[in-house]
Amino acid sequence: MFYFHQDALSNLNGDAPIAAKLANIHGFVRKHMPFVARIAVALYDAPTDTLKTYAHSGEGDNPLPFYEARLGDSASLREIVQRGQPRVVNDIDLYGEAAEHSKQIRGGGFGSSYTLPIFHNGDLLGFLFFNSYEKGVFTDTSLHFFDLLAHLLALVVADGLATPTALMATVRTLTGLAQHRDFETGTHLDRMAHYARIIAREIAPKYGLTDADVEQIFLYSPLHDIGKIAIPDDILLKNGKLTDAEFEVMKTHAVRGFEIIDDMLNNFHLDGTSHSGVLRNIALYHHETMDGSGYPSGRKGDDIPIEARVAGVADVFDALTSRRPYKHAWPIDEAFQFLIENADTRFDRDCVAALVKHRADVERIQAQFGEDHVG
Ligand code: C2E
Ligand code: SIN
Ligand code: SIN
Ligand code: FE
Ligand code: FE
Repeated sequence: MFYFHQDALSNLNGDAPIAAKLANIHGFVRKHMPFVARIAVALYDAPTDTLKTYAHSGEGDNPLPFYEARLGDSASLREIVQRGQPRVVNDIDLYGEAAEHSKQIRGGGFGSSYTLPIFHNGDLLGFLFFNSYEKGVFTDTSLHFFDLLAHLLALVVADGLATPTALMATVRTLTGLAQHRDFETGTHLDRMAHYARIIAREIAPKYGLTDADVEQIFLYSPLHDIGKIAIPDDILLKNGKLTDAEFEVMKTHAVRGFEIIDDMLNNFHLDGTSHSGVLRNIALYHHETMDGSGYPSGRKGDDIPIEARVAGVADVFDALTSRRPYKHAWPIDEAFQFLIENADTRFDRDCVAALVKHRADVERIQAQFGEDHVG
């Protein structure tokens, strides 16, 4: 038996815990997205306009060196900050950025990248970088996954930097970014989160939900369909009605979402925090119905966690009122009618009543997070 003496310097090195966590996270990411060869976190120091690699995790022989750069020297990173939205580069060779960092990324042999800004209270905290040696791998489907990953990575980064309040602010800001995303479910996720919050607020007294519970439902309901990353594109993006066999595959997204979240919470050492139950339950149980005819478990009534009943109503309402490749968008009244007719059998009656009561807010949210493309 032997052990390595703890290097005294590493105690001074604030990178150590997050670097270790990042390595864990990277291992987890590769299990689901084997093409991700490198993850890095860079932090921004506003007074000096400096961007500094904070932690990174990459494959053995060719990691990029830690670097420091001025944000002012990278037009592309400045643009990401100004737009407040992530950037996908699916072929780095065709991407003309002359900044030192981009040259290094190219020099490292990487083929594509996904770059996400992290904000805290409106201030730039830094960036997350994901790189692959392959080109064209950051597809719409994989971006669903990175949405969730970004939420949780932000928790880890902010955890090393700031208070729980700041941490929640970071998560909220990242969720807000989804609305600007130019892929299929961006606005769906956003509307759905707001519908869920309206419902949760209204039923809070009856169900004993605190403000923090309501906020968690708001923050985590957009992650309900994360398991769809495991559904093949020919089913997920099918331009028409699913066959019974295809629908059976589609239904696995609830359990797959639960597994992915579970795996992630373990890797991020967030298991057992107050977040974990709400997050898991929303993913696993959002398609259960009050009469037990739902999936995946067939749980009934009060055995379905309230956060999942809330998310379920918000999800169906938004699905009905949105255009999909296989359906037109229903008017609000028809969607409300559908929820009311199926209250108690499928939907929680209190959740339905809560949403119907706040029709004016629903209209405002539709106007705010509207879309003219297929959602
Ligand atoms: P989603 O689009 O997010 O829809 C969520 C839920 O809203 C659906 O859960 C269903 O309860 C309800 N919903 C959506 N569209 C309609 C509709 O036109 N009529 C009615 N009565 N309810 C609707 P569900 O059925 O378990 O489906 C889960 C996911 O499976 C859907 O998520 C969607 O991604 C996919 N899906 C379901 N049916 C089809 C289909 O016919 N074609 C395609 N391409 N995908 C489908
Ligand atoms: C940059 O444009 O400087 C960032 C390149 C990347 O890591 O995606
Ligand atoms: C929300 O809860 O997110 C919006 C609803 C409102 O503004 O009342
Ligand atoms: Fe779903
Ligand atoms: Fe959905």
